Amino acid sequence: MTLEIESVYGEGACECASPDKQVSFVFSQTRPFDLVELEQLLQSVGWSQRPVGKVRRALDSSLLKVGLWKHDPCFPRLIGFARCTGDGVIDATVWDVAIHPIYQGFGLGKQLMAYVNRSLHDIGVRRITLFADPGVVSFYKSQGWILEPKGHRCAFWYAN
Ligand SMILES: CC(C)(COP(=O)(O)OP(=O)(O)OC[C@H]1O[C@@H](n2cnc3c(N)ncnc32)[C@H](O)[C@@H]1OP(=O)(O)O)[C@@H](O)C(=O)NCCC(=O)NCCS
Repeated sequence: MTLEIESVYGEGACECASPDKQVSFVFSQTRPFDLVELEQLLQSVGWSQRPVGKVRRALDSSLLKVGLWKHDPCFPRLIGFARCTGDGVIDATVWDVAIHPIYQGFGLGKQLMAYVNRSLHDIGVRRITLFADPGVVSFYKSQGWILEPKGHRCAFWYAN
């Protein structure tokens, strides 16, 4: 498998020999999203449907939205996504990290997270947090994410 990021600013491209042929992919934090396509992607990884209006407002309020498109001049397909909330100065939290099941296991999730981290670094945000499902803890740990350092930090939920 070959995977190459050519640029991390604005739009970046990478190639991946997956799943059946050499395909190009494009990362972008500026390209607009088709909300129906985004929800289809998030449902493809097993997440429940959310009201489109709320999703639109959540995206509008997000600090960073990154899409990963399968490159095709006529019919690009959204196959990966991540977004971050935060103050844009000190803290950011990563949400909704997903790679379409067909394209999982080819290094794209790792590249997506690297793109997110670099994008946050570029705007000066150094402290990044996320909430991981138990099944993906090692995905993040293998990329340098630290699980509850020294047991001093705990996550709390409050259903308001
Ligand atoms: C988690 C997810 C984003 C990973 O994307 P991906 O493109 O399959 O991951 P990659 O191919 O880049 O894998 C990178 C590394 O993480 C490992 N990895 C991938 N998925 C993993 C998982 N679920 N658990 C543990 N390790 C995992 C890979 O084996 C690979 O290891 P390597 O670098 O030693 O070869 C993707 O599986 C996904 O969208 N899952 C469903 C949604 C989800 O759970 N999102 C996270 C919410 S917290």
